[in-house]
Amino acid sequence: MSEWQKSGWRQKPRIQMPDYVDMDALHDVEARLSQYPPLVFAGEARKLKKELGAAARGEAFLLQGGDCAEAFDQFSADAIRDTFKVMLQMAMVLTYGAKVPVIKVGRMAGQFAKPRSAPTETVDGVELPSYRGDIVNDLDFTSEARIPNPEKMLRAYTQAAATLNLLRAFSSGGYADVHQVHSWTLGFTESEKAERYRELAGRISDTLDFMKAAGVDSKTAHTLQTVDFYTSHESLLLEYEEALTRVDSTTGKWLAGSGHFLWIGDRTRQPDGAHVEFLRGVQNPIGIKCGPSITTDDLKKLISILNPGNEEGRITLINRFGAGKVGEHMPKLIRTVAEEGFNVTWVCDPMHGNTIKSATGYKTRPFDAVLREVHDFFAVHKAEGSIPGGVHFEMTGQDVTECTGGVRAVSEENLSDRYHTACDPRLNASQSLELAFLVAEELSSLRAQRHAEAV
Ligand code: PEP
Ligand code: CO
Repeated sequence: MSEWQKSGWRQKPRIQMPDYVDMDALHDVEARLSQYPPLVFAGEARKLKKELGAAARGEAFLLQGGDCAEAFDQFSADAIRDTFKVMLQMAMVLTYGAKVPVIKVGRMAGQFAKPRSAPTETVDGVELPSYRGDIVNDLDFTSEARIPNPEKMLRAYTQAAATLNLLRAFSSGGYADVHQVHSWTLGFTESEKAERYRELAGRISDTLDFMKAAGVDSKTAHTLQTVDFYTSHESLLLEYEEALTRVDSTTGKWLAGSGHFLWIGDRTRQPDGAHVEFLRGVQNPIGIKCGPSITTDDLKKLISILNPGNEEGRITLINRFGAGKVGEHMPKLIRTVAEEGFNVTWVCDPMHGNTIKSATGYKTRPFDAVLREVHDFFAVHKAEGSIPGGVHFEMTGQDVTECTGGVRAVSEENLSDRYHTACDPRLNASQSLELAFLVAEELSSLRAQRHAEAV
């Protein structure tokens, strides 16, 4: 394979990227961004890679979550704090189920560019270019708003920097006090499920009381108060990614400085395409979204291009097949990976295969379908003897009504109440926590099964 250059992707076929009109403005933005400091550092990305390698072996578990698309007009300290807080609460519940450390990665501080299913959108007979995320154009339905504007990359950088700054501050702030575990389930109405979750919360709280009584609490106070929180986004807008790519002085290797973990979308993972070419040369841990169209041949090609040295933690496979389709697609991928001896971390994204249009016209995701896909993901790993390494959700700490269902049921009629997403529907705080309890149960049951097999 030819030597890698950070601009090498420009020679490859590119899709899902804007055609900028004003090339001078684009070059000016690229030049400016290239002068700006990177947002993340190589040592952090290497630490995350190591942790993801542990997740592949079942010694850690990944929780990745955040907005489908970050938006300029929804940027606020409260929104960042609330999502951060819910993720810490979820992580606490998952730690209990998995009995291993939970790696926390936000879809935050850079998740601005969106691939679309069609290049144009038609409303009342008017056809305009699709909205491609706030880093590219505007959501307003006017021809002016839909023109890609390179200047928006600078605003995205600024928002990402400010978001990351706040996340770094929160990470050392003791935000989700684990002793609050009982109050997290208070909003759940009476139901069999809510009862099960309360029971689990009770067990977590008992454990904490025991630790305190045994004097462990004070010694580990620091561990319970500070966390590592990483950032991630889809590596889609390659002009932005290239401009923030720098050589890491410690190793002499390239680092994509826009976020710790970058993934390739299900629509842009062509082995000979621009997106794969770009990511092949940076040392960050990377994700590959795997939807129903992926073949075992694609998978083999992708992994050999992106991880020729079979480094642990480098590749995370984010499966997003849809409820009811996991059994058809995942086993063959798992067997291919095993036959080839590839090191990969298996992650479940139960969101993107379960998007539907509701009767009221809103794009939504039924919570039951989300739960079912998570359940099937664990069932397949149980049957194959492989290791579930984590989960990937579109979620927010805000009380939105974008996905239907959950113990505090959101109905199709409720969707219009607080539907704020700029792109795909997100789980709200209560649904996110409910999902964490389900995943914790799956993890506990898997542990029990493996334990029984071992004795
Ligand atoms: C996303 O994660 O928002 C996304 C577009 O996912 P996928 O590439 O899996 O469709
Ligand atoms: Co999405």
